[in-house]
Amino acid sequence: VSTGRILAIETSCDETAVAVVERGRRIRADVVASQVALHAQTGGIVPEVAARAHLRWMVPVLDEACRRAGAEGLAGIEAIAVTEGPGLAGSLLVGITMARTLAWVHDLPLVPVNHHEGHLYAAWLLDPDEPERPEPPLPAIGLVVSGGHTFLVLIRDHLDYVRLGGTVDDAAGEAFDKVGRLLGLPYPGGPAIASAALQAARRDRRFPRAWQGDTDDFSFSGLKTAARRAVADELGVAAAHGEIDGSTLPSDVVAELAWAFQDSVTEVLATKTVRAAQRHGARSIVLGGGVAANQALRERIAGGAAALGVPLVVPRPGLCTDNAAMIGAAGWRRYMAGVRAGADLDARPSLRLAA
Ligand code: KG4
Ligand code: ZN
Repeated sequence: VSTGRILAIETSCDETAVAVVERGRRIRADVVASQVALHAQTGGIVPEVAARAHLRWMVPVLDEACRRAGAEGLAGIEAIAVTEGPGLAGSLLVGITMARTLAWVHDLPLVPVNHHEGHLYAAWLLDPDEPERPEPPLPAIGLVVSGGHTFLVLIRDHLDYVRLGGTVDDAAGEAFDKVGRLLGLPYPGGPAIASAALQAARRDRRFPRAWQGDTDDFSFSGLKTAARRAVADELGVAAAHGEIDGSTLPSDVVAELAWAFQDSVTEVLATKTVRAAQRHGARSIVLGGGVAANQALRERIAGGAAALGVPLVVPRPGLCTDNAAMIGAAGWRRYMAGVRAGADLDARPSLRLAA
């Protein structure tokens, strides 16, 4: 009998994660060991440090996921899904090696999953006690906004994607992180900027918007430069030289700058997403990636989606950031479609979602 249960492993970046998901939707266990505190010490991810941390946490996280799923070992698991890319090679290899070993020892099918596809399928997930709700209707427009990637995709059907556009320079999350550092806020910058922006009394500063013409592409490097110049102005120093450190700025100024930066990023992301939905006759909009946890972004896109009359599905914040449940959701679709990897599955650090 089919249990529909997939054990999923995700180690592409800085979270060691294992989940058990039933029929691509219902979460039975979802365990994430975050390395955020570790990487906060260096203000960013050092790949070698991340890979070592995955090695340290892989087995305890796997044990905990099996315990929470109530699984006796791997009894009742139908397949093993694992992120094959994109991501850091050393980090990916830890999860892939574990998945290959489990599949071999327990004689289970091994299903390779694209990390981005996982972020999109997070919109299909249901928490253990969450009431049933309809799946996002297709075709859908997906916006994936994370620390490493920013792109818009048309999901024509399950596992059938058309990439519409993406960032030509920095990812949205990367811009949040860099501007956060510039403002002297703690790592990661995204949540820190979001909460600083909430404190802004004055909301009349305006940073540039990079519309990239009428395309579905994004650019955030000009905005980063504008933020750097604004911080330098506030400090009374020249922007061109050396390290700019806004940690001595008054908190009301930091809040205003954080708000203005967030306003620019979210306006561009929301406008392009809603416009793409309209252009392609999408029947829903789904968001994924760490930046999708941003409340201002969610509200902006929700407004546009409501005007179009299409549902917006945004996973709860813990399912927007990297996790293995989303790999289990995408893995189920691939498993049903017959996608399998051999025992020679290798990391694909620059894997793309679609041509
Ligand atoms: O998806 P994710 O966990 O990891 C990657 O695959 O990159 O995304 C992490 C990114 C970081 O850049 C972080 O600053 C950003 O997501 N982020 C946010 C928020 N929460 C996390 N950005 C804006 N607002 C937030 N609330
Ligand atoms: Zn991610």
